[in-house]
Amino acid sequence: MQLPRAQLVFSDLAFHEELDSTNAELARNQGVATRHFSAVIAASQLMGRGRLGRSWQSPAGSSLALSVFLEEKSIAEPGWASLLAALAVQNSLLVMGVTGSGLKWPNDVLVSGKKISGILAQLLPDGAVIVGIGLNLKPQQSALANAVSLQELGIFCDLDTAAALIGENLKELLAAFALDSKSVKGQFSQSCITLGQQVRAELPDGGELIGLASEIAHGGQLVILTPEEIILSAADVWHLRS
Ligand code: BTN
Repeated sequence: MQLPRAQLVFSDLAFHEELDSTNAELARNQGVATRHFSAVIAASQLMGRGRLGRSWQSPAGSSLALSVFLEEKSIAEPGWASLLAALAVQNSLLVMGVTGSGLKWPNDVLVSGKKISGILAQLLPDGAVIVGIGLNLKPQQSALANAVSLQELGIFCDLDTAAALIGENLKELLAAFALDSKSVKGQFSQSCITLGQQVRAELPDGGELIGLASEIAHGGQLVILTPEEIILSAADVWHLRS
């Protein structure tokens, strides 16, 4: 498949009709002179990976599966890479005409409470980061009830345009983060619909806690008041509604 717009945005771009996972592909290639901001796109993934060891469905043509390689030191705080990617997706959605999207900590992009995009960042041993972005373009038969796609919002966007927009926005955010990370962190907090909500957090060790999501800590963690202040680096967060 030709991806002329995306080709202009990424330093190298590899397209595959089918892969196990675009993140896995970039990780395999890493070390073979992978350039900063190289990207891999797959039309379908057989073993797409989600956060916390889950799988991510990307049947052919239904979604964008994009992974971007950020070289070591290209982001001073690698923990922020996935949060910036979520912001880049949100900014891209706005360009496509999707208003009212929000970011659920750490990096789900929701529209009217339904998930349209998920992000999986992997920190490599040498400090480089692979940022994997999944964006639902069309409805999937096996989609979860809380998922939504661009097409269901009346927006028809091809793989090339979606990848190019996200790449452009991610590049801009990385540059802005290098100049003034505080301001970009503030943008994330503004967009984060988790803040100010009562939440239930499921922790990676199987534990859970309930409290008020009060702020995003300096390193991108979520601060929850239970009322004791707890700082979460990784969790599944559910917004509780009264
Ligand atoms: C999540 O919400 O749990 C994260 C989903 C991340 C999916 C993307 S699709 C492109 C990249 N390749 C993968 O195997 N996973 C990410």
